[in-house]
Amino acid sequence: MAPISLADTVHAVTTTVESTLAPLANGAIAQQPVDPTAARRPAESVQVESPNLTYTDEALLARYTFHSTSVDKQVDGQGHVKYHARPVERQLEFKTGRKVPKTGLMLVGLGGNNGTTLAATVLANRHNISWGTRDGIQTPNYLGSLIRASTMRLGVDAAGEDVFVPISDVLPMVHPNDLVIGGWDISGMPLDKAARRAKVLEYDLQRQLEPLLKEYTPLPSIYYPTFINANQEERADNVIPGSDKQAHLEQVRRDIRDFKAKNDLDQVIVLWTANTERYSRLLDGVNDTADNLLDAIRSSHDEVSPSTVFAVACILEGVPFVNGSPQNTFVPGAIELAERHMAFIAGDDFKSGQTKVKSVLAEYLVNAGIKPLLIASYNHLGNNDGKNLSAPEQFRSKEISKASVVDDMVESNSLLYKPLAKRTADSKDGFVKGHATEHPDHCVVIKYMEQCGDDKKALDDYTSEIGMGGRNTLSIYNTCQDSLLATPLIIDLCLLAELMTRVTYREESTQAGEYEPLYSVLGLLSYMLKAPLTKPGRKPINSLNRQRQALEAFLRACLALQPVSDLVSFTQMNVSQV
Ligand SMILES: NC(=O)c1ccc[n+]([C@@H]2O[C@H](COP(=O)([O-])OP(=O)(O)OC[C@H]3O[C@@H](n4cnc5c(N)ncnc54)[C@H](O)[C@@H]3O)[C@@H](O)[C@H]2O)c1
Repeated sequence: MAPISLADTVHAVTTTVESTLAPLANGAIAQQPVDPTAARRPAESVQVESPNLTYTDEALLARYTFHSTSVDKQVDGQGHVKYHARPVERQLEFKTGRKVPKTGLMLVGLGGNNGTTLAATVLANRHNISWGTRDGIQTPNYLGSLIRASTMRLGVDAAGEDVFVPISDVLPMVHPNDLVIGGWDISGMPLDKAARRAKVLEYDLQRQLEPLLKEYTPLPSIYYPTFINANQEERADNVIPGSDKQAHLEQVRRDIRDFKAKNDLDQVIVLWTANTERYSRLLDGVNDTADNLLDAIRSSHDEVSPSTVFAVACILEGVPFVNGSPQNTFVPGAIELAERHMAFIAGDDFKSGQTKVKSVLAEYLVNAGIKPLLIASYNHLGNNDGKNLSAPEQFRSKEISKASVVDDMVESNSLLYKPLAKRTADSKDGFVKGHATEHPDHCVVIKYMEQCGDDKKALDDYTSEIGMGGRNTLSIYNTCQDSLLATPLIIDLCLLAELMTRVTYREESTQAGEYEPLYSVLGLLSYMLKAPLTKPGRKPINSLNRQRQALEAFLRACLALQPVSDLVSFTQMNVSQV
């Protein structure tokens, strides 16, 4: 077997190592063809010919008519509802920067299962390292990434056939192979050893990646023991000293700036994939406003969590921050601070497995006129995430983030679920809002079982009412490597967050005005997130279909293209589409 030549740059976390590695001596597999999900294709392969799209050297300038329907609902004296609908049009302009920046991805929790799997995935793809398994040779890829491994319908060709295009090719986007990876962890283990500890990757891949991964050592991180399970203490050998939270904030800001400078980066995205923390208590005068939160950090208040310090550091540095865990990192003061600085934030909690299926199934059932009566979800897993979640306070964070995923579906169908005369009470700890309509019984159980390792097992029972009092039960059993599902989501979140920093917009009626950045809370990232963070006062939309459609509509709007319509595809009217 031919050795692999690793003539590429390795970016260390603490120092930049611009080294060319010698070919691996330990029996690597001959180079295989690059997987289509990792292949590089010419930039801007989608070219739009339209008077509404202008290509300048720097930007794509799109003029776009946004169509909406305004509805006024009135109830007459007999309780009958009348809906008055009125079409609305808004003229928008989008400006998308064409230059793809050199981008760094800094992970909080770099040494964990997700962190090491992400680093390994990017390195294996960048160097096209294949590995032997008992089934044969496995090549690296980005399967599971919406951006890299899925397509969207662009339109129809002259023969009336649908034309699909990889999502990664619709607008200029970062290639994940080019991401410069770095980050923090309270465990200082270099990533070659940390990847072995994680037990996610096949042995032959771990072995081949060792010379690359050992160049990465996590930066010391913030450790406040009361926020994560006490059983994590033995890992915490790499912490920023002291208990001064303001000093911690400044250290994280310095780390981001240093990483950017040392690696000559144009952009950095920071993503929390560290342990799930307990919820921070919401206290007036502490985390309720931006100024109070900054004061609370200055006075090292107990209720400021490590993840909130990271979020604030990123907001002040103007780099997007994504929370991949369920805790309430984005306390009201953090959201206000992001708005004030027009910085980008997104969260919460990667939507990798059970919840993704749940959002799809709930949507299918409710939209089919079938009434879910109970949804029971059991999980057992044996990785360090499971170990951390075995304490009630950390589990509670996960339970809350998994709780509300069916709410909007249930509330969308008043034929199945009756509005309640009185809203049900909030949860005892105040973090789950009660329901305004009847609701299916819904419970989530998570158990730590060490022998499961990273193979999470999820069992779900969906029992629904069907016609004439019948019952329909769906039993789902899902087993998967948790981190191999989460890694592509991290890539998508990073690529999309970066893209969003390059898109600005304005309404045509205010054409004299400047283009504005998108709103601070990046709701368009909801597809990858279990409990999508929204503008205060707005409800999250959990429908996976709508989340994807929104993303497609946004990408198309940046190219001055309307959302695709199936009006003709299904009616087969005698109307030409080309
Ligand atoms: N499918 C998935 O893997 C999935 C899905 C949804 C959410 N999540 C969430 O992602 C997170 C990471 O999952 P994982 O499987 O990689 O867990 P993990 O326990 O393997 O990794 C977490 C890492 O974070 C480190 N850490 C803890 N506190 C830290 C801090 N304050 N600063 C820096 N590092 C810190 C730990 O040392 C550990 O290395 C968890 O919160 C998990 O709930 C994972």
